[in-house]
Amino acid sequence: MAADNEFEDAGMPGATPANGPGGHGATAIRSSAAHMFTDVAHEPGASKPDPILVATGVTRTFGGLTAVDVDHVEIQRGAITALIGPNGAGKTTFFNLLTGFDKPDSGNWSFRGNDLARVPAYKVARMGMVRTFQLTKVLSKLTVIENMRTGATGQSGERLLKAMFPFLWRSQEEANTRKADELLERFLLIKKREDFAGSLSGGQRKLLEMARALMADPELVMLDEPMAGVNPALKQSLLGHVKSLRDEGRTVLFVEHDMDMVRDISDWVVVMAQGRIIAEGPPHSVMSDPRVIDAYLGAHHDVALDLTEDTILAEAEHELAAQRDEEPKGNHHA
Ligand SMILES: Nc1ncnc2c1ncn2[C@@H]1O[C@H](COP(=O)(O)OP(=O)(O)O)[C@@H](O)[C@H]1O
Ligand SMILES: [Mg+2]
Repeated sequence: MAADNEFEDAGMPGATPANGPGGHGATAIRSSAAHMFTDVAHEPGASKPDPILVATGVTRTFGGLTAVDVDHVEIQRGAITALIGPNGAGKTTFFNLLTGFDKPDSGNWSFRGNDLARVPAYKVARMGMVRTFQLTKVLSKLTVIENMRTGATGQSGERLLKAMFPFLWRSQEEANTRKADELLERFLLIKKREDFAGSLSGGQRKLLEMARALMADPELVMLDEPMAGVNPALKQSLLGHVKSLRDEGRTVLFVEHDMDMVRDISDWVVVMAQGRIIAEGPPHSVMSDPRVIDAYLGAHHDVALDLTEDTILAEAEHELAAQRDEEPKGNHHA
């Protein structure tokens, strides 16, 4: 049954022997930022030595439903943090809030010490915090290289710049294209440069989204289910790319259902259930935490684990609309 598979994918006990890469010794090739967490309490809301993102009292309700109710959370700079939790836990909504794609009922958060609450998405991106989407429909009608260009920052005032300083504009555009091509090389998409993104496989779209996010040279990269819809052959390559983001000094926060991936690459895991942060810790200890197991067990019975196509399409539309709404308006008087 699909539900059973999904449950096992979620890495619950039995499916998870305690000898994962995070356990003992680790393999020689595995770099890690786990040392940063040596003195961090294994508790929800735990303080981190050098947090890049700090959120407090963030709530979001939809009608009578409290989708997000986060007391406090800190994300450590330079590490890979996984945000896990059963379907409907509020992970995507929390991402939407933090990145300005949705507005909270209450709460505050800061990024690199700057208050970010209620800052629109395009400004958030320009400040160095960029996210990818659980679903990547937005890209399909543009070519791969066009998609990459939309990831460059500084869109605000583009038309003005173009009209007034054509030479400046051209050199910026050329620099963007060079950067895009370098990223396409790195993510093994250069041969697809002129193809429509819609013709790419699920995994290639995820790669494209990640490459596109890097056009903004973000300090914090937030990935919503980077492994969803990715075939096994591409998974390893994607894992490598996520690690490389950390290894070049970026911070990564990702939502993921694939517990193998969580175990393999995360330095720290934050667990959400019913809108709240219910546990935090290194991967191997969090996954055996009874509170976490309970959360998955509880959700197992009353949450549909596989989304229907309608739900997926509706969600994609919602993401698209949110993105459109957040595009800068009114800056473009020429
Ligand atoms: N736009 C929306 N309108 C109404 N309810 C929503 C909306 N977005 C999310 N929700 C609800 O909020 C809860 C959290 O959803 P979500 O953040 O997508 O969870 P997750 O990403 O952890 O699976 C779910 O119950 C979901 O149905
Ligand atoms: Mg989600």
